Amino acid sequence: MKQFGRWLLPGLLSLAFSVFAADGGSAQPVLPKRVAVASANSQATDAGLEILAVGGNAFDAAVAVSATLGLVEPESSGLGGGAFMLLHVAHDNRDVFIDAREKAPAAATRDMYLDAQGNPNRDLAVNGPLAAGIPGMPAGLVHLASKYGRLPLSRSLAPAIRLANEGWIFSSKNESMLGFRKDVLARSPAAAKLFLPGGEVPKAGTRMRNPDYARTLQLLAKQGADGFYRGAFARKLASGVRKAGGIWSEADLADYQVVEREPIRITHRGFQLVTVPPPSSGGVALAEILNILSGYEYPAMSRTDRIHLITEAMRRAYRDRSIYLGDPDFFKVPVDLLTSPDYAAGLRASISPTHATPSVLLPGVGEGSERVETTHYSIVDSEGNLVATTQTVNLPYGNAFAVAGTGFLLNNEMDDFSVKPGVPNAFGLVGDDANAIAPGKRPLSSMTPSFLMGHNKVSAIGTPGGSRIITMVLLGLLELMDGGSAQAATDLPRYHHQYLPDVISAETGALSAVEIQGLQAKGHVVTVESRTWGNMQIVTWDQGNGSVEAGSDGRWQGVGKAATGDVPAEAAIFR
Ligand code: GLY
Repeated sequence: MKQFGRWLLPGLLSLAFSVFAADGGSAQPVLPKRVAVASANSQATDAGLEILAVGGNAFDAAVAVSATLGLVEPESSGLGGGAFMLLHVAHDNRDVFIDAREKAPAAATRDMYLDAQGNPNRDLAVNGPLAAGIPGMPAGLVHLASKYGRLPLSRSLAPAIRLANEGWIFSSKNESMLGFRKDVLARSPAAAKLFLPGGEVPKAGTRMRNPDYARTLQLLAKQGADGFYRGAFARKLASGVRKAGGIWSEADLADYQVVEREPIRITHRGFQLVTVPPPSSGGVALAEILNILSGYEYPAMSRTDRIHLITEAMRRAYRDRSIYLGDPDFFKVPVDLLTSPDYAAGLRASISPTHATPSVLLPGVGEGSERVETTHYSIVDSEGNLVATTQTVNLPYGNAFAVAGTGFLLNNEMDDFSVKPGVPNAFGLVGDDANAIAPGKRPLSSMTPSFLMGHNKVSAIGTPGGSRIITMVLLGLLELMDGGSAQAATDLPRYHHQYLPDVISAETGALSAVEIQGLQAKGHVVTVESRTWGNMQIVTWDQGNGSVEAGSDGRWQGVGKAATGDVPAEAAIFR
């Protein structure tokens, strides 16, 4: 077992943990007495717990959860998509961000989704092979396992391989999301074979098998990334995409690399937030919002004033998202400026306590609503390693296209580029040059896996939800900072503002009638939606007593699962 020796260095471990105390506390943290996994599907949570129980660390468990979610929650993520993985590596007290985001193929062009009149062709941008970026998930799994895991991939992938071969249970969520994409899936014979047996949407509770998925995972286990990105499998994938009208080449697959990037760090109310850098917009937006809020005693404000202020901060952060955010390998994103307290002070000066600022008065990029997918899981192990991963194929069931014999759908992440400046994507998000399509570029994302550390507690948090991810994570973080539990933070009703459209949208129950009237009196437009958003998954570790908690969004009751498990005996011996 590689890295096993590191378990035997409790001195090193305790040294590492002391730095978590962002609030200046110096007491030695008590290591987690249990492990915790929260994910959007119980089969995936169980896969993670199984790997932890046999002596895997949080990173091995993350491989198991990611690969299992790709199988059992194909509407949200998979081998044909990408991921952002945020790790806290306890033995050297390091936070690592693994960017396994999809990349545009080399033949991609800026205007590839515009018709002869210059209008976006939405069908091409989201349905079928032309909508797919080069997947990053398989490379991300191999990187995670080989650099940070302790177990071989053949072991950490075993639960997903077993489920694919023996059968997994189709959930109510699989079923309802498939309803939205059935017609498009039916266009791809291989996708229809996977998910529309007999041409119909399976009923929740149906046992589904996917031996092709198992074989693809076995290739990864045996050959590492080469098993997917080079050789016969890559040939099959690229030619299958091209034959159906796509533009992938074998070289696109062979050239794919994950990137490790430095996370963004923000201090707020004595907490340290560790979060995602570009090509996610989430970390920069959270930094802007929290830096703006730090100039106010907002916890003591009335709810209406607090929501007004948070909305004004959201508005400004999403405006900047539309102008400045994109792939940092292609566009110089002014991260230091946007995340600086001085910049936030300037934004704060433009906020009126009594009036909403109409978004049209904040120059930005020109608007829209959504039906979103993506998924998140959070893990803490008994050594204090943490994982927060958000992974995606973009819209439900990705581009609804599969290459025969691979076992997975491809993504439609190309729609996360700005297909045309100022024209909204599927999430109503607008963008400009920073996020224009270019060969080899990563599309801007909103995925925001994050860690919150301080006041003797550590949390890993994240959610799906397209453009709303950032504001959901924000509200979850504020609840945790206010002392809320992991479960309370996942269940909290949500509100959101994203600059354009210039509207506060709210889940039922998020705002009282008095609060809505108060916000309207300040000039806000408020819409209350009957549907719910997001699927937040949080784990927390109380460093004062070693207890852990896992919270799974109650909006998908009976599908997601937050669970704690015992520390494996061999780990306990060395504690
Ligand atoms: N595809 C959703 C996101 O990356 O933000």
